[in-house]
Amino acid sequence: MDQSFYITTPIYYVNDVPHIGHAYTTIAADVLARYRRLMGADVFFLTGLDEHGQKVQRAAQRAGIDPKPYCDQLAPQFQALWKKLNISNNAFIRTTDPGHKDIVRTHLQSLYDKKLIYAADYRGWYCTADERFWTEKDAADGLCPDCKRPLERLTERNYFFKMSQYQEQLLSHLADHPDYVRPKTRRNEVLGFLQKPLEDLSISRPKSRLSWGIELPFDPDYVTYVWFDALVNYVSALDYLPPTPSLARYWPASLHLVGKDILTTHAVYWSTILMALELPLPRTIFAHGWWTLGGAKMSKTEGNVVDPYALVEEFGADAFRYFLLREVPFGNDGDFSREALMGRLNTELANDLGNLLNRTLTLLERSADGVVPEPTPAAEGHREGELRHAAAELLGTTLPQYLMTNALEFNRALEAIGGLVQLGNQYIDKTAPWTLAKKPEDGPRLRTVLYHAAELLRVLSLAITPFMPQAAGEMRRQLGLSPDLSEPVAPTELAWGGLAPGTRAAKGSPLFPRVGAQGRTQGGTTVDDANQASSSTPDRQQTGGTASTPAPEAAQQITIADFQKIHLRAATILQAERVPKSTKLLKLQVDLGTEQRQIVAGIGKKYDPESLVGRKVVVVANLKPAMLMGVESQGMVLAAGDKDVVGIVALPEDVDPGTTVK
Ligand code: MSP
Repeated sequence: MDQSFYITTPIYYVNDVPHIGHAYTTIAADVLARYRRLMGADVFFLTGLDEHGQKVQRAAQRAGIDPKPYCDQLAPQFQALWKKLNISNNAFIRTTDPGHKDIVRTHLQSLYDKKLIYAADYRGWYCTADERFWTEKDAADGLCPDCKRPLERLTERNYFFKMSQYQEQLLSHLADHPDYVRPKTRRNEVLGFLQKPLEDLSISRPKSRLSWGIELPFDPDYVTYVWFDALVNYVSALDYLPPTPSLARYWPASLHLVGKDILTTHAVYWSTILMALELPLPRTIFAHGWWTLGGAKMSKTEGNVVDPYALVEEFGADAFRYFLLREVPFGNDGDFSREALMGRLNTELANDLGNLLNRTLTLLERSADGVVPEPTPAAEGHREGELRHAAAELLGTTLPQYLMTNALEFNRALEAIGGLVQLGNQYIDKTAPWTLAKKPEDGPRLRTVLYHAAELLRVLSLAITPFMPQAAGEMRRQLGLSPDLSEPVAPTELAWGGLAPGTRAAKGSPLFPRVGAQGRTQGGTTVDDANQASSSTPDRQQTGGTASTPAPEAAQQITIADFQKIHLRAATILQAERVPKSTKLLKLQVDLGTEQRQIVAGIGKKYDPESLVGRKVVVVANLKPAMLMGVESQGMVLAAGDKDVVGIVALPEDVDPGTTVK
């Protein structure tokens, strides 16, 4: 692995508040930056804002203020979102920074001096209303593709960069560097683009038409074309933003992350500009896909945008980060839905990962006074070997492979982490520490199992750190470890056995509280709701998800997310007795895997208490406790029957107590 790792996001136009597309690239970059830091690399992670050009000038005009104060107003909104999403960028560039402007002008002057920039007439189809040129193809019907007004044939004097002369050099670079543009389909797109002769690039705009830009150093009547200005940010930042000067330390960039729509500007414009500047090319440009909503492109005018800020307020940064990278392969397009986000949060994060932490810490508390016990090698079986092997494979092989800059298979990395979580839950189900705790002679085995379960959680905390830094820190805090994972981990920590026996765990609140259709619920109370979150931020259109009203018959239906609110678990009935003075109610003691509960069930007319002991039943485990004829009931046993109970819902013998029923 390279010792220095320089990763960039595109710099975002400040023509509106940040949206899900901005959050997507930035989160992906953050995951990689955090992962590389953890592995000991010297990371520089850059993001920022693209503040010049027509788009921004127009947006400022609409807002009725000058472009610079307009940018100054919006920039903090981006920074606030990055903070909320726990983005660990090392620097934040704004193209209106004097340091950046100086470097753009220096580079323009050097290309001009080398005769790589020249003046010429540009002829094209111009829309006066939109103040922009269109290509021959766009203007086929003589009308502006945007406003449908007639286009004019216009000639304009401009400055051009001799891009065409680098065509061969770029083709041979692509041939020699298969990882230069990724994924492969995007590389093929670039190769396809380079089949046609490359034209020279207009790098100026006359001030008479557009004044908001960096003035050309060799002609005060012109400003720099916004893409030339913007692309240079990747090197200018290394010149004037701390740690300075760092061009030698970090250039060439290890990875430029971009969306598929801005691939050509990076793979062709930027590559050839770098060639002309005699600077090495970045190692990899990776283009990701686009998020749609209800299958359609998101657009503010259509009112179908997903507001990342509101979603983070509602579901938390980690769940949002997890969902975006887990749901869709990084190079592909994907459709956003709140239901899908809630589904993954409730199952993979709350039920699987959160529950693994919770049950392990409950077991540690119950059977080892909350202290990680010393394992006994002689008490180990094949399951411990399996766990150790899977953990080593995840940290040593799977994650490095999927997170390599030419792969970026975040979804598979998270799937592999989920696999280890499941293995952990199965491990607890199979080794049944609650049974081991009953016999003193099983002590060494119990301690070994508890150690392995806790150590697995430590390994998982490392694996999830880049993706869900907050949850990772909280997991480690509850395990009694240092929650700070911003420093590289020692190799010994990557190996099995890093958790020292004697560590005192401190069980805390659930890592991922379950959510219902109305938003995040804690202890059954709705604390937030989508509409509240969006109405508290007037600039934002809607929280996300489809905005359609449900059909009347759908009112009877529940979503999968509603169903997932009900936590069904297998339980073994340990004791049963009648509730005094009741013919119907039985007081049951049940084993829920990690705990014992008392449940009052209305099944006394159908069953004698003695016949129930040892039966495997299904229990609603997250029901609010209630008093029934003066006896506390901490859950409910599922049974069939309308008025009278006809039978309990029974499970086969080999289902372990605590197993999820879904
Ligand atoms: N300013 C230029 C980039 C200059 S980089 C030297 C720009 N800015 S942008 O704000 O319009 O877009 C930034 C990024 O957001 C692009 O990578 C784009 O692909 C991404 N996205 C915009 N909408 C998106 C989705 N709906 N889904 C995923 N990403 C999308 O282009």
